[in-house]
Amino acid sequence: MSTIWQVDSWQQYHAEQQPHYRDQAQLDTALHQLKQLPALLSLTEIFHLRQQLREVFTGQSFILLGGDCAERFHDCHAERVNIRLQVIQQMAQRIRAHHDTTLLTIARLAGQYAKPRTQEFETIDGQRMHAFRGDNINSFTPDPAQREPDPQRLIRGYHCAAATLRHVSALWPATHGKLFTAHEGLLLPYEQALTQKHDTHWYNHGAHLLWLGNRTAHAKHAHVEYLRGIANAIGIKIGHHADPQEMVDIVRTLNPTNADDRIVLIARFGHNKVQELLPRFIAAMHNAHLKVIWTVDPMHGNTFLTADGVKTRDFQHIASEVQHSFALHRTHGSKLSGVHLELSGDDVSECLGGQAKIRIKDLSRNYQTACDPRLNYQQSLELATLIGELL
Ligand code: PEP
Ligand code: CO
Repeated sequence: MSTIWQVDSWQQYHAEQQPHYRDQAQLDTALHQLKQLPALLSLTEIFHLRQQLREVFTGQSFILLGGDCAERFHDCHAERVNIRLQVIQQMAQRIRAHHDTTLLTIARLAGQYAKPRTQEFETIDGQRMHAFRGDNINSFTPDPAQREPDPQRLIRGYHCAAATLRHVSALWPATHGKLFTAHEGLLLPYEQALTQKHDTHWYNHGAHLLWLGNRTAHAKHAHVEYLRGIANAIGIKIGHHADPQEMVDIVRTLNPTNADDRIVLIARFGHNKVQELLPRFIAAMHNAHLKVIWTVDPMHGNTFLTADGVKTRDFQHIASEVQHSFALHRTHGSKLSGVHLELSGDDVSECLGGQAKIRIKDLSRNYQTACDPRLNYQQSLELATLIGELL
């Protein structure tokens, strides 16, 4: 990467997972409008999260991060936001009931509107159309015209994020610390439009933390180039195809001063691969003397399709990956400092198992997700109890 970073220097690199807009002029107009809109978060708040991450790094605090896989515009609704806040609060209480620790709470909220997809197209009822890429890009409605990427959605995404953030700051109880927000830094034209300079720092005002997704985590690609220039905390997903040396290179690029409050690694290997793979990455970071905060995402390595083609995850696999992660970090002289979960505060039926023993035939009862299967309210609290015990 060239040493001069600019807010648009990522455009000189290959970018995975970007939609193709038909009308470049419409996209430019929308991005121009976005740039004029007021900042959603201040630089002070962005640094507040970094300060809190320092406490995680030193072992005084544990990260509880959760929310939808694909947040929808219709989730910008008082009651729906309340439900999401309540489940995170109750999980935090459960964890603290078992283990007296400070929790750093972060929600996949107020901007988790863009999704990477394995297949660019899908066929529904005999019609071929773009896959749903998140409400910021196209409509979930299975109709080829509505699945076309639409730049006007970016403006709507900004306003939904703004209203959601305002609601969170009004409702989140001060006694619970602060609720920070995070989303995948995926849709680079949008993220660039939300990037501002304040004094000597560039920062993304759309989320406290942005993470680099599993499919875009390439050392010499556009996403790493964009993220290296902003002052926000950065998450990095590590999947089973990742190469330890490339991950070391990415961390070095994103954190050249080796600050202890900058990088949150999010391992998502799956319950049957974590024992083999996690130690390699712990060793790679350790040998390179890199200061990183380790978390586990026990969701994305544990997704599978039922015989009927329904995407699901098994609570047992999720719990097992969390358990293994705690143990492996201990054995290898490291520390698990947080969890990254996909959850819904509602009584959805998307993941199997848990105390309610959701079976394959129960999945259709209330399967709501627009992308990946989430833990429901009860499964979320069960997992919180387990985390509290393991801490
Ligand atoms: C996600 O967090 O929803 C996601 C797509 O994860 P990953 O990049 O790890 O596949
Ligand atoms: Co997901």
